[in-house]
Amino acid sequence: MKRKILVTSALPYANGHIHIGHLVEYIQTDIWVRFQKLCGNDCIYICADDTHGTTMMLRARTEKRTEDEIIKIMNAAHLKDFNGFGIEFDNYGSTHCEENRTLCNEIWAAIRKAEMVEEKEIEQLYDIEAKIFLADRFVKGTCPKCGKKDQYGDNCECGAHYSPVDLTDPVSTITGTIPEIRKSKHLFVNIEHEHPFLDQWVHSGTLQPEIENYLSAQFLNEPLHHWDVSRPEPYFGFKIPDSPNNYWYVWFDAPIGYMGSTWEWCKLKGHDFNDWWKNPKTEIHHFIGKDITYFHTLFWPTMLKVAGFTLPKKIHIHGFLTVNGEKMAKRRGTFILASTYLKHLDPSYMRYFYASKLSSRVDDMDLNFEEFETKVNADLIGNVINLASRTAKFAVHTGLSEYYPDDNGLFEQAAALGDDIAEAYENGDYSKAIRLIMECGNRANKFIEDAAPWTIKLDPTRKTDLQDICTIGLNLFRQIVVYLAPVLPKLKTQVEELLNCKIDHWNLSQEHLLGTQVNPYKHLMTRVDKSGIDKIIEDSQQETPFSPVADNRNNNNGNSNFEEDSGDALNIEPLVAAKISIDDFTKIDLRIARIVEASEVKEARKLLRLKLSLGGGEFRNVFAGIKAAYEPEKLIGRLVVCVANLEPRQMKFGTSEAMIVAAGSGGSEVFLLSPDNGAKPGMRLH
Ligand code: MSP
Ligand code: ZN
Repeated sequence: MKRKILVTSALPYANGHIHIGHLVEYIQTDIWVRFQKLCGNDCIYICADDTHGTTMMLRARTEKRTEDEIIKIMNAAHLKDFNGFGIEFDNYGSTHCEENRTLCNEIWAAIRKAEMVEEKEIEQLYDIEAKIFLADRFVKGTCPKCGKKDQYGDNCECGAHYSPVDLTDPVSTITGTIPEIRKSKHLFVNIEHEHPFLDQWVHSGTLQPEIENYLSAQFLNEPLHHWDVSRPEPYFGFKIPDSPNNYWYVWFDAPIGYMGSTWEWCKLKGHDFNDWWKNPKTEIHHFIGKDITYFHTLFWPTMLKVAGFTLPKKIHIHGFLTVNGEKMAKRRGTFILASTYLKHLDPSYMRYFYASKLSSRVDDMDLNFEEFETKVNADLIGNVINLASRTAKFAVHTGLSEYYPDDNGLFEQAAALGDDIAEAYENGDYSKAIRLIMECGNRANKFIEDAAPWTIKLDPTRKTDLQDICTIGLNLFRQIVVYLAPVLPKLKTQVEELLNCKIDHWNLSQEHLLGTQVNPYKHLMTRVDKSGIDKIIEDSQQETPFSPVADNRNNNNGNSNFEEDSGDALNIEPLVAAKISIDDFTKIDLRIARIVEASEVKEARKLLRLKLSLGGGEFRNVFAGIKAAYEPEKLIGRLVVCVANLEPRQMKFGTSEAMIVAAGSGGSEVFLLSPDNGAKPGMRLH
């Protein structure tokens, strides 16, 4: 029977670009959706950008653009990245849309009606200059427990947790000013009201066992805290209709965005919204990372239940990505943006690699680049592609046999695994699916190896003729491509062309393809080019003025339940930098320098090695990303401006001890700054 399935991935923050950590989730979800569609189920994949919150408001202020403009630009960038990785949504919307507002109103009214809203006055730090209440992560100060300086708003390295109003010497990280304590009225949802429901719901089979245990042990064994769902003006979001000057906290309207985006799709396609969100026959599947468990497993089901919408059938929670065993870090070149990857490597590798690592558990996942290279080359090229490349070129001349020849039961054996492979996909155990598929590939390759079609012309007395061997080889290949179609949609399309057949149903893995022509063989996929990996790391490491510095989320153990749209404060790409104080500015030792040596770094595509003279026998070695814009010889003797007191930085090719000042967007668009005549090396800039 055809299932009706609505699938979502978490809505990425509109502030930051998509990186390879995000892609774990979107690739995982896309594979699942493609699998469901291939099985003939009625399945839609819904997502959107998560646009609201303080961060967006501050960004709009600094960039002097409207939030709408930023939302539009980031939406296009996100879609481009997703598209590059073959991630195909049925609808990709935005939480800042009228459908979402209407649904927020409706759900809010239901929560009010259930008498679950309470008003309370609370004290918060207020930045007088920026004129905003400060979320915890925008405050630093001295720990009230141990006295350590420069600690974040709600917790200290010593392990203490506190409220920012208790910090000694608090400072706003936005303006550097001292905030004052102000009172404001907040609205709280009493989710304790639904405690009995949640007690039952967490054990309803919707959650992975480890999540079930975590929620029972951490939250449900005591009364649930009221949830602060309002933020006072100014805020970027939706105004709460019955509470003047208050907005819904971003985490209220964000999950409702799943519905808003569905509604948008319904309008486009002529579907009935209620048929999806108020229909017990619809299966709703959410894919999320472990860091946002709390929002999706306590508040969200409560909101849905109280407002009478369909509850999720399953919440698929995944762990976090590490690269080469460590947290992603710009410094190591492992904070890799989707767009950077796409410049240098085939996205199919990444889809395959992630699939081969994903299980149904919440475990973190490591991307080790050596393993990545070995696995993709051995499995995808050595095992799968090889089947076609060693047979298709002969079959172009012969076509496929009319009857399926004797293959020692290989096709049957692989067909019999179909149900196990399908079950593994269904359960999110992709690594198991891949393992089973690769076993089929091994057996098929052994067959080709033994039959050695490339020797047949030399030995006409052999029993099985060339056409039969190729028919077997290509049938076993096609069977594997059907199994891999959710993971490798591009390969699927290429093989449809090669073999003149549609691969549009899972059951094709059980059927032979016979008596048809084979088209000329074109390369389907190439081996991983190691230099592509190096370039990705190099690009990711290189400091461009407008790239994200870090992702706080990766410093999160995934179990904390932060209160704001956390994580992305640093993930902004400001066009105008944040304000700094005169003190901050005078910390920078800007000096005139003369370039006395300049040479290419052969192994790096962007770097020149420079030696700067600062006068008085003082020198600095610098690696500058200006290769595309300047020939090294022409730079020698030229005066430039440099930052002389930069912490030395260990790079792949040596230590960089300073930075030269330039304008422009990067690549060949780089313009070095030079002083007027008369300036001498070593002079300080004031
Ligand atoms: N906007 C919220 C989600 C709202 S859903 C109603 C958010 N956005 S996010 O951009 O920070 O993250 C989007 C998804 O990507 C989340 O599920 C998050 O767990 C996941 N990941 C972000 N970084 C990740 C890794 N490094 N590794 C794996 N998944 C990661 O949270
Ligand atoms: Zn402390």
